[in-house]
Amino acid sequence: MELLIQRAKQLVTVAVHGKLVKVGPEMREIGLIEEGSVYVKDGIIQWVGREVDRTIESTRDTHVFDASGKVVMPGFVDPHTHLLFDGSREIEFAMRSEGKTYEEIAHEGGGILNTVKDVRKATKRELKRLADNRMTKMMEHGTTTVEIKSGYGLDMENEIKMLHAIDELAKEHYMTVVPTFLGAHALPSEYKGNKGGYIHLLLRELIPYVGKKHLAAFCDVFCEKGYFDLPEAEEILNEAKKFEMRPKIHAEELSQLGGAELAAKVGATSADHLEYVADEGIKALNNAEVVAVLLPGVSFFLGQRYAPARKLVEGGVAVALGTDFNPGSCMSFSMPLMMTIACTQMKMTPEEVISAATINAAAALGLSHETGSIEIGKRADLIVLDIPNYQYLPYHFGVNHVCSVIKNGTILEF
Ligand code: NIG
Ligand code: FE
Repeated sequence: MELLIQRAKQLVTVAVHGKLVKVGPEMREIGLIEEGSVYVKDGIIQWVGREVDRTIESTRDTHVFDASGKVVMPGFVDPHTHLLFDGSREIEFAMRSEGKTYEEIAHEGGGILNTVKDVRKATKRELKRLADNRMTKMMEHGTTTVEIKSGYGLDMENEIKMLHAIDELAKEHYMTVVPTFLGAHALPSEYKGNKGGYIHLLLRELIPYVGKKHLAAFCDVFCEKGYFDLPEAEEILNEAKKFEMRPKIHAEELSQLGGAELAAKVGATSADHLEYVADEGIKALNNAEVVAVLLPGVSFFLGQRYAPARKLVEGGVAVALGTDFNPGSCMSFSMPLMMTIACTQMKMTPEEVISAATINAAAALGLSHETGSIEIGKRADLIVLDIPNYQYLPYHFGVNHVCSVIKNGTILEF
């Protein structure tokens, strides 16, 4: 199986030359090649360069894909989603339009626990059907690798139901899937007034089970006022590490609590959100080489504060972008939309958002050695865009510019 993608007007490689992330000014280097070609064999990139310099000859069996006039770049990596859910929360959206905040709605019994009710009622099969459709649409919008969190089950039966659904989707769908255990997403209603009891369940039953069955690569905690505090988050993440789950944290989303410092302390792969991160938190992330996953779709959707992207980039932190696709705080799975919002609201440049949505997002999942850039030896996860140049992607927003998706070297038709 050989594939030659030929003569892209702009081939954006996002090359890292053996490194695993881009930091600081490197985020602006996107490895642009004009009239570029990519040679793929058995799903792996064999050669990348200008068509006129091509040293690798196509054979009679090589499928030739004409990319002339198009932009070719790495498929997006969405490193933070809650895409496995049933139901929807447009009523909360309407309430926010009249001035209620996300926290007020949660206090009144809405929020995450609303979706928990729907997910507990749903069968694994129904959850999978909904998620499968969403994933296919995400691929149409250019995402080729996605992280999916549990966290709407919040008991043994339903967290495991979610993780089994994610595991099966990983095996059945074209998309590369990374599973994350988020049992510490909220306190389920049956444990109201007994948080210790729920944390005991997490530490003594859920984490050991999920770990031993290898159902999650990462363990995440919603570290926030009214959810899980710093000592609770630390204990949960340290326990998860014993079972070979790598830590991630929903940090500093609604208030500044010190989740960024905790991410550094526990050696988290990423700290996500960071809308309220302080300067000390930025230093801690930089020192511990924690990837900052920014989710500007949440700020946009909730009408709240944006993360200080410029300070993070200039502070040497590897900044990634994700959608946080979920029914409560960001009902969009479009990575290009996140890129536009990051440019206009967080003042990232088009080059920086491209690095953030590809190689750095892959690093937030520990996968940047195999995907996230177009380089020899990496998986051929590429997208073809019908736009005149790469700056045009965040510029012309709200429409889908992706015309072809190549996943593992296979051209997908939608
Ligand atoms: O990342 N912050 C916690 N979790 C999600 C929201 C989930 C929900 O509201 O259902 C988030 O914003
Ligand atoms: Fe989230």
